[in-house]
Amino acid sequence: MNKRGKFIVFEGGDAAGKSTQAELFAAKVNALLTREPGGTKLGERIRSLLLVPDGDVLLMPKAELFLMAAARAQHVKEVIEPALEQGRNVVCDRYSASTLAYQGFGRRLPIDEVEEVVGFASYGLEPDIYVLLDISLEVALTRKSLGGDRIEDEGQSFHERVLEGFRRLASDNPASWVVVDASRSIAETAETVNSLVLPRLGD
Ligand code: TMP
Repeated sequence: MNKRGKFIVFEGGDAAGKSTQAELFAAKVNALLTREPGGTKLGERIRSLLLVPDGDVLLMPKAELFLMAAARAQHVKEVIEPALEQGRNVVCDRYSASTLAYQGFGRRLPIDEVEEVVGFASYGLEPDIYVLLDISLEVALTRKSLGGDRIEDEGQSFHERVLEGFRRLASDNPASWVVVDASRSIAETAETVNSLVLPRLGD
């Protein structure tokens, strides 16, 4: 029987360089690279509903939460869990912590209720490790002006709450999180990610 793969999730605010780091790390550990919301045909359709601004479609915070959750439920069963069971490592660009940070801290839905939805949607599947690419909003804004999708279009205080949310999640659970200063170059950040995460994957 195959040894179960490791499940590594990259998290952070917008413009933290998360997708680049997830890609580099996935190549390093020969992992399946996937993302949320998305990762399946259904999930990618839900992603367009969630992120493409459409002046005609009003999306309430709870509707946003359940669409994120629907995409995750599909993703876990269709892609992530089967890959892990086959012994494949999986690197995911965002997962449940993003829902807590964005829909909980950002949209201010009650955290305990968001946690329940997240646990139900993910069938309780937790990553082996969460990597938080931590960056201040000031630095994020020098990299790119946020805006372009429906969530990035939110104001600065929303994004501050999201960043604070990620930091709180990481500090509340140091056994599952590593926090990496993502304000440095891509190569320096990747080196720190490797040095902190590889030893924790163990055997
Ligand atoms: P990305 O730009 O990192 O691909 O992520 C897409 C956006 O979706 C980003 O603004 C964060 C947001 N998001 C949530 O609000 N909740 C979630 O559960 C996930 C996975 C993403």
